[in-house]
Amino acid sequence: MQAGNLKDKTVLVIGGSAGIGLEVAKIALELGAAVHIGARGKTGADKLSGATYHVCDAKSDASLQALFETIGKVDHVAITVHESAARLGIDTTADKMNLAAVMEYCDGKFLSQYRVIQAALPHLAADGSITLTSGVASRATMANHSTISAVNAAIEACARQLAKEQAPRRINVVAPGVTATTTYDAMKPELKEQFVQKIAALVPLKRIAAPEEIALAYVFAMQSGYVSGTVLDASGGQLVA
Ligand SMILES: NC(=O)c1ccc[n+]([C@@H]2O[C@H](COP(=O)([O-])OP(=O)(O)OC[C@H]3O[C@@H](n4cnc5c(N)ncnc54)[C@H](OP(=O)(O)O)[C@@H]3O)[C@@H](O)[C@H]2O)c1
Repeated sequence: MQAGNLKDKTVLVIGGSAGIGLEVAKIALELGAAVHIGARGKTGADKLSGATYHVCDAKSDASLQALFETIGKVDHVAITVHESAARLGIDTTADKMNLAAVMEYCDGKFLSQYRVIQAALPHLAADGSITLTSGVASRATMANHSTISAVNAAIEACARQLAKEQAPRRINVVAPGVTATTTYDAMKPELKEQFVQKIAALVPLKRIAAPEEIALAYVFAMQSGYVSGTVLDASGGQLVA
């Protein structure tokens, strides 16, 4: 395999209609892949000519099975789905935490990724890869992140087991730091600005990430045939702050 070349590979990005996933899809297209995007709505994917768009819901096994049957064999899968923690109101302290909302977050982030893995495996190439998404809070200590941290840590733990179980297919995780995507639109503008300033102050690089910077980590995980069972941190150095 020629490193750096996704030419003629089939890449599926579930969650590729916006944010980090949309940037993964753009880079994979530039590298010559046949790119498929799965999401519930279209948003930015409409502007990405060359990719094939599929309406799908990672909370539905039937929807995912139909998607993979339509696409057929796939070489690399990136999964960037989640439910916004801000929308669910679980970016709070334990005394105020609503456990029903925590379960919805877990369903939208961890279980949805697990469903995609289950649906993908019968269609995944023998030398293929799946790249999951966690977040810097899996290991960084952050205010109001007790349940967000736990869900992200579960994804990383799961990927380590799957990398051994599913070899030679490769399973990795990208752990983004705070990234400028639409996910924070659910926050009140003044709270969002305060949050962004607070994170920028504590991260060694003194800014939050652009989604295209994070997207490169997924493409690296697809391209390097010897990377498996690992967490690629793209947090501006937050873990060493
Ligand atoms: N942005 C950050 O600061 C940050 C930090 C740490 C970790 N992360 C993680 O990075 C990943 C991407 O985040 P982002 O900020 O790029 O998110 P985003 O801008 O909100 O985009 C999420 C994408 O996932 C799709 N999606 C959500 N639920 C879905 C479902 N059930 N089925 C199919 N598609 C679904 C959305 O489209 P539809 O809603 O139309 O389906 C959209 O395309 C997430 O796992 C997030 O937790 C982000």
